[in-house]
Amino acid sequence: MSRPAITINLPEFRILSDVASVAQAVADHVVSALCVKPSLTLGLATGKTFVPVYARLVQKYRQDGMLLAKAVTFNLDEYVGIAAEHPASYRTYMRTHLFEPVGLPPDQTFLPGVEQEIEQGCTAFEDEIRQRRGIDLQLLGIGRNGHIGFNEPGSPFDSRTREVRLAPSTLEANIRDFPDGEVVPPSAVTMGIGTILDAREIIMVATGQAKAEAVARAFETSPDLVCPASALQLHPRVTVYCDEAAAGLLTSAACAFSA
Ligand code: F6R
Repeated sequence: MSRPAITINLPEFRILSDVASVAQAVADHVVSALCVKPSLTLGLATGKTFVPVYARLVQKYRQDGMLLAKAVTFNLDEYVGIAAEHPASYRTYMRTHLFEPVGLPPDQTFLPGVEQEIEQGCTAFEDEIRQRRGIDLQLLGIGRNGHIGFNEPGSPFDSRTREVRLAPSTLEANIRDFPDGEVVPPSAVTMGIGTILDAREIIMVATGQAKAEAVARAFETSPDLVCPASALQLHPRVTVYCDEAAAGLLTSAACAFSA
């Protein structure tokens, strides 16, 4: 029996010299989207990659004001079992790096996994996205193992928001946020890959040499569950922003699309 045809898309690559240029370009992209649609539904990522991006957005807000006044945001993920006030929670991260500096009120921001009943919370999170008519622009980082959100290798491409176990390499990478011998929570709630692919537009950001292998695997091999980010080849509107270090293993064919 023949398989149903799938359309593979090559993302648009923007390869820039360094982290600062990538952060500025991503912030400019988000600001342009907000100019077109001030009531943008914006999907947000956390992690080291996005700290300079949010710093640029905060800078923009301080210059012009009103940056995200009408926007609604949905975060990709949150650890299970740590308090909102914990310094390593993604609620703390977002409050610190974006929500409080730009004055985004809590009723315009949604994170998964913050309810007591996780399954109900996941359903409510998906319902909320649907009621807002879907995510207009989703920001993504990439893990060294190719994860997007906390969709670790093996995650189905049609998965929805759910609780997941974190891969050993993710626990190892994120230990930096849990100093003083604290352990990284073994599980998290994440938007599913299917939820991510429903966004109308996606931006992926990768910086640093440690991401080069994952970036190449995501876009230069066929979509495969072993590399969750390769699912982005199934989306028609993806822009990948990389610094030169993260783009280091892309072939010239892919780099032909760089800025
Ligand atoms: C975080 C998230 C993760 C990170 C990825 C890269 O919300 O969804 O997929 O984007 O682990 O993290 P950094 O940027 O810290 O290397």
